Amino acid sequence: MTEVLLEEIRENGDIPVHIAVIMDGNGRWAKQRGKPRILGHREGMKSVREVIEASGDAGVKCLTLYAFSSENWNRPRAEVMALMKLLERYTESEKDELRSQGVRVRAIGRIDELETSARRAIRSIEEYTREGNRMDLFLAINYGGRQEIVDAVRALSEDVAGGKVVSGSIDEALFGGYLYTAGAPDPDLLIRTSGEMRISNFLLFQLAYTEIYVTDVFWPDFRREHLFRAILDYQKRDRRFGKVSSGK
Ligand code: IPE
Ligand code: IPE
Ligand code: MG
Repeated sequence: MTEVLLEEIRENGDIPVHIAVIMDGNGRWAKQRGKPRILGHREGMKSVREVIEASGDAGVKCLTLYAFSSENWNRPRAEVMALMKLLERYTESEKDELRSQGVRVRAIGRIDELETSARRAIRSIEEYTREGNRMDLFLAINYGGRQEIVDAVRALSEDVAGGKVVSGSIDEALFGGYLYTAGAPDPDLLIRTSGEMRISNFLLFQLAYTEIYVTDVFWPDFRREHLFRAILDYQKRDRRFGKVSSGK
């Protein structure tokens, strides 16, 4: 069944180059089962694994997963700590598989603000997978879209002050080069699970013309098939970029 969907995606041909995902609904998934929220996060790791593999199979070149937002620090301390531990465990248990799949991992966000062990785990998986050339995996950790823009402005203004950049030459492309995602194309498709119709401070600059797909499925239930259905939906969209219809 799922492979039929993949066939259809390939026949349509217009594969999104970059997919970004707001992995939401872990807590509600657990609550539904009368279990602690952290169990939902743990279960969500299976979805992460499956979506990375399925993205590669579909020919997606870049996948960005929103794992922990700048605002998620405001959750109970025990949950935050459990999420950080899960992140460390994930990088350790998945690094071989990711490397063998040709996935290159890069973290985006204020990584320097994380505790030493989490920071080390991230730097180590980035290093370990650096040769991967089948797909780029951006993990958004301690990430905020506004914070990213502020960090870019800071770095850019230093370069202006240092004479490296003339302010008159600043345009969208140059500015984009100062974002955490420098060098990556803007997302073609944004998927948000668990039904919430908001961006939650994710990739504010990069999502300007991204197609948005919201599903009610909670992240721990999100599987290969759901990803393929999202891509098929994307392939039916008429992306106008402000122009008139391409007649699709
Ligand atoms: C997403 O699931 C995971 C993170 C934000 C880290 P949530 O934990 O937000 O789950 P809900 O939205 O409370 O159901
Ligand atoms: C967004 O989900 C952040 C991540 C998925 C990591 P949240 O659950 O934090 O977003 P809100 O609070 O519902 O907007
Ligand atoms: Mg949530």
